[in-house]
Amino acid sequence: MTVKKICCIGAGYVGGPTCAVIAYKCPGIQVTIVDLNQARIDAWNSDNLPIYEPGLEDVVFARRGKNLFFSTDVDKAINDADLIFVSVNTPTKKTGMGAGSAADLAYVESATRRIAEVATSSKIVVEKSTVPCRTAQSMRTILEANCRENIRFDILSNPEFLAEGTAITDLFNPDRVLIGALQTEEGLKAQQALVEIYTHWVPIERVITTNLWSSELSKLAANAMLAQRISSINALSAICEATGADVDEVAYACGRDSRIGPKFLKASVGFGGSCFQKDILNLVYLAEQFHLPEVAAYWRQVVIMNEYQKERFVHRIISTLFNTITNKKIAVLGFAFKKDTGDTRESAAITLIKDFIQEHARVHLYDPKVEHAQIYMDLIEPGVADSKAQVEKHLTICSSAYEACQDADAVVVVTEWDEFKDTHLDYQKIYDSMHKPAFIFDGRLILDAPKLRKMGFKVEVIGKHN
Ligand code: NAD
Ligand code: UGA
Repeated sequence: MTVKKICCIGAGYVGGPTCAVIAYKCPGIQVTIVDLNQARIDAWNSDNLPIYEPGLEDVVFARRGKNLFFSTDVDKAINDADLIFVSVNTPTKKTGMGAGSAADLAYVESATRRIAEVATSSKIVVEKSTVPCRTAQSMRTILEANCRENIRFDILSNPEFLAEGTAITDLFNPDRVLIGALQTEEGLKAQQALVEIYTHWVPIERVITTNLWSSELSKLAANAMLAQRISSINALSAICEATGADVDEVAYACGRDSRIGPKFLKASVGFGGSCFQKDILNLVYLAEQFHLPEVAAYWRQVVIMNEYQKERFVHRIISTLFNTITNKKIAVLGFAFKKDTGDTRESAAITLIKDFIQEHARVHLYDPKVEHAQIYMDLIEPGVADSKAQVEKHLTICSSAYEACQDADAVVVVTEWDEFKDTHLDYQKIYDSMHKPAFIFDGRLILDAPKLRKMGFKVEVIGKHN
C-alpha cells in the first residue's frame, strides 16, 4: 500500500519536527499534526513556533498550509489518515505502581483508544513515542477490542533518535531509521509502506527493519548506552580532579581507539534532557519486572553517577568559595539542558540553582533562549509553602551574561552555549566587573583556563586538577 495521508498525534519536540520533515521531503503526502493543547497548536500555526530548533522554521514555513497542517481536530485527522504516528509524551510515573521508574503510558493508551473509537477505515499505527518493550502488544489488544467491524490495524515501532538542538539535521541525515513490525504478511506490508516514506530521502541501507520487540528495546538500549558513556567519562572526571590527569586528554586518548570512538565523551556537570534518565529508569523497571536485579542495578548506577556528578560540582563550588556562599552573588550562565535548545527538562541547572538557593546565595542567571516563566516553573516546588518566595528572593534573571556577572563573586558555566566561550564573551570586562578574588567554574569545559588565569581569574574546571 502507498501512504497518502499521515496523522501525527502529539505536536511536541518529536512529533512536530519529525512530521514537518516528512511533509518537507514528501510533498505528495498530506501530513496533519494534532494535539489536545490548543496553545501549542496555535503556536505551530503562528510565526513564533512553540519550540526552538535551528532550521525548523525553514521546514515548517515551506510546507505549512500546503501539505503540512496543525490542528486540534484529532478525530478528523485520525479518520482521514492511512498512517498514524503516536508521538505523545511518556514521562516517568509519579505515583502508584512503578512510581519513579516505570513509564506512564496513560497518554499512549488514551491516544490508542481514540484511534479505535473514531477510525472508520483500516490504519497503520506507528509507535513514535519511546515505550517499554511489548507496548505494541497492549496497543494492538486495545485497538482490536474497541474497533468497528472489518477494520484492521497494523502496529509498527519506529522510535525516534533525533537529539534536541540538532533535530533537523538529524532528521535530514539520520544514522539509521528503525522500523519494527510483527513478522506476519500484513505486518511486513505495513513495514514496507513506512520504509517507502523514509526512502524519499534516507538511503535504503540506513533503514533497519526488525521485529517489533527488538525495535522497542533498541530505543531504550541506545539511550542507556549513550548516557552510560557520559556517566563513564564523568566518573573518570572525578579521578582526574584527584590525580592531575586531564579529562579532555583522557577522553581524546580513549576516543582515538576506533572501537571506542570520539563522540559523547565530553565530561560535564551531568546529563539532562527529557529522555536519558526516564528511559534508563524505564529499562531498570523492565529488568526488575523480569526478576533481573543485577541488570537493573547495573543500569541504575548510570543515573546515580549523574546525580553524584551534580552534587560533586556544587560541593566543589562551595568549598572553593571558602565553605560558604550565603549572600554571595553567583552568576549562572545557562539554564537549558544543552546548547541550541530552549528545553530545560531535567537540566543540571535546576539542581544546581536549587542548591545555591538552599545555601542562601544570590543567583543571577542568564540563558539566551529559555523563557523566564519556564525558569520559575522549574525552580518553584509546588506545594512547598515558602518555595515561591525563596526563589523570588534569591533569583534574578538577567538579559545578558555581562549583567549577570556584574559584581559577582563567582561565575558558573552550566550550559555550553557558544556565546559563553571566551572567543565570544569579553572575559576581561567580566573580570573587571567582579568582586575579587573572581572565581569561575567551568562545568562544560568550554573555556580556555590558562588564558582566564592570566587575566586574574581563579578557574576551576570539571575533570581538571588545579
Ligand atoms: P512533548 O511533551 O513535547 O509532546 C507530546 C505532546 O503530546 C504534547 O504536546 C501533548 O499535549 C500531546 N498529547 C498527549 N496526549 C495526547 C492525546 N491523547 N492526543 C493528542 N495529543 C496528546 O514530548 P516529546 O519530547 O515530543 O516526546 C514524545 C515522545 O518521544 C516521548 O515518548 C519521548 O520519550 C520520545 N522522544 C523524545 C525525544 C526528544 O528529544 N524530546 C527524542 C526521541 C524520542
Ligand atoms: C538524546 C539522544 O542523543 C537522542 O539520540 C535521543 O533521540 C534523545 O535523547 C531522546 O530519546 O530524547 P538529547 O537528550 O536531545 O538526545 O540530547 P543529547 O545531545 O543526547 O544530550 C543529552 C545530555 O547529555 C545533555 O545535557 C548534554 O549536554 C549531555 N552530554 C552529551 C554530555 O554531558 N556529554 C556528552 O558528551 C554529550
